[in-house]
Amino acid sequence: MKDIRLILVDDEESFRNAVAKRLKKRGITSEQAGSGEECLAILEKYPADVVVSDVKMPGMSGIELLHHIREKYPKTEVILLTGYASAPDGVQGIKSGAFDYLTKPVDLIHLMGKIKQAHEKILRLEEKKREAEFRKKMEEQMIITERLASLGTLATGVAHEINNPLAIIRESAGWMSFILQKEEMAQMPRKADFEKALEKIEKGVERARRITHHLLGFVQKNDSVFSEINLAELVDESVQLVSREAANRSVEIVQKSDPFVKNIWSDPYQLRQVLINLVTNAIHATHAGGRVTISIKPAGEGVELRVRDTGHGIPNENMQKIFEPFFSTKSPGKGTGLGLFVTRGIIDKLGGELRAESQLGQGTLFCVTLPRHCEITDR
Ligand SMILES: Nc1ncnc2c1ncn2[C@@H]1O[C@H](COP(=O)(O)OP(=O)(O)O)[C@@H](O)[C@H]1O
Ligand SMILES: [Mg+2]
Repeated sequence: MKDIRLILVDDEESFRNAVAKRLKKRGITSEQAGSGEECLAILEKYPADVVVSDVKMPGMSGIELLHHIREKYPKTEVILLTGYASAPDGVQGIKSGAFDYLTKPVDLIHLMGKIKQAHEKILRLEEKKREAEFRKKMEEQMIITERLASLGTLATGVAHEINNPLAIIRESAGWMSFILQKEEMAQMPRKADFEKALEKIEKGVERARRITHHLLGFVQKNDSVFSEINLAELVDESVQLVSREAANRSVEIVQKSDPFVKNIWSDPYQLRQVLINLVTNAIHATHAGGRVTISIKPAGEGVELRVRDTGHGIPNENMQKIFEPFFSTKSPGKGTGLGLFVTRGIIDKLGGELRAESQLGQGTLFCVTLPRHCEITDR
């Protein structure tokens, strides 16, 4: 009862004072208003739980005040006080949404009981609202969990499907290397070219194998390989992998590296995946003649990696959604909607942070901060 915010409205000051004083004795403090207008002015700054108002007042009547309150402050409950002879006003008030009405002269215990009931009603409604919000949140969470579960299944499936042919490729390449070492092959024409090609195949297979293993971090969670990384080199390597795509679209890629960036200890394969995802997205969003800038600089003990583009930008309402699994604005053949989801998962796991800023029609910035030493967190 103590924390009820109450306003007493009556044109008769002595009446207000008397009621306020007696309520105070019982632990309820109240604001006072001499008219409906004054009460509305107080409500602007003081969101009351309960308004106790006289009906017959010069200027705005209690019923008019009630209408205003119902419209503007739906959470505030109104108790009307009517003259003995004007009980119909009270009935009218209830029809218009008053919590209840009492006839004057007011019995204080009765009034206190009503105020308490009104307050309880407010608490009940708040509780209900909280419950509804909680339920909604749980439902949203469940949808995400379900999606993740299906994503996990999908990822595992894809990884298995791809790993088998990869193993065959690797084995065959290994066998060819072995054969090439044999003496009878010593004079084989263009032997060195074959060896180089086989090396490329083996490297490519290894990378593909890593990607499938790290796919979303769901599959074989613990086989992260950490090493010391020169981020500028990693950026350069990753850019090479997407350079054809950029050239096809006449998008220029610019790399900027602060000379004070130190090497970091992290997982190069996953970071490369992050880079490829962010840069590919940037290229996709950028019109011919546009630019994608990748810059790295020191940030505290760690590094900050920025991928900025001059592309079409992201509408505000999509800023949260872009990290959700399967959210894509690209045509079904082109986008999976997994890129940023995976990217965020990886950066989380590597102890970093990812943030996006965008201006429609101007471009987008993805900013990744990474710690100098990444601790493996198994989330
Ligand atoms: N640099 C960017 N500029 C504009 N939109 C972007 C950019 N990066 C991501 N997006 C938006 O986020 C969505 C999700 O990206 P992503 O998860 O990588 O999935 P996908 O690329 O397969 O659509 C994209 O479809 C696009 O709408
Ligand atoms: Mg993408």
